[in-house]
Amino acid sequence: MTADISKLFERNRHWAAQMERDRPGFFRSLMAQQEPKYMWIGCSDSRVPANQITGLEPGEVFVHRNVANVVVPTDLNCLSTIQFAVDQLKIEHLMVVGHYGCGGVKAALLDQRVGLADNWLRHIKDVRDRHASLIASTAEHLRHDVLCELNVIEQVMNVAQTTVMQDAWQRGQQVTLHAWCYGLSDGLVHDMHLSVSGTGGIEEKYKAAIAGVSEERRHLV
Ligand code: CO
Repeated sequence: MTADISKLFERNRHWAAQMERDRPGFFRSLMAQQEPKYMWIGCSDSRVPANQITGLEPGEVFVHRNVANVVVPTDLNCLSTIQFAVDQLKIEHLMVVGHYGCGGVKAALLDQRVGLADNWLRHIKDVRDRHASLIASTAEHLRHDVLCELNVIEQVMNVAQTTVMQDAWQRGQQVTLHAWCYGLSDGLVHDMHLSVSGTGGIEEKYKAAIAGVSEERRHLV
């Protein structure tokens, strides 16, 4: 079946009319300003839509997505998005959301070549290599899931180390970072139990979150 682009316009008109019927003035109120309290950094995967998963409406979540939800300090795109969200929108929670079954994470885990993106996935291979012993001690069929979890934990640490977050916390702004993993098979979000709202005790929280990953897997094996 070929993709029909005109259908999208049709659906858009239907959706806009439905919204206006249910909530008269909805779009006009959004036009004035956006006041999201949440920022979502997730995978580009089409099966992981931020708003639908969390039941949030337009205007409620500020979103940045890329292949395998990676945050690196040289990525001006991602950093600019975080900066705008924190400094201008004053978001209160930022979640890095990975998902089980992530193709990017799998390619990194198994050293599969996918093309140009191999260079991007190098960041996940760094995560894989940093936790090589944990991954090696995990049953083979669970390694993909484990690396998905390790990846979001590491990416939250990367967010925490950006100048944007360091400056925000320095001036006393309340922003909490979270590490989540979404299950494609059941639609549920799993919390990796890493909540970072400042630089204090961050190393201990990180270690506890990593320990939690291996702990959970031991029960499953
Ligand atoms: Co993915």
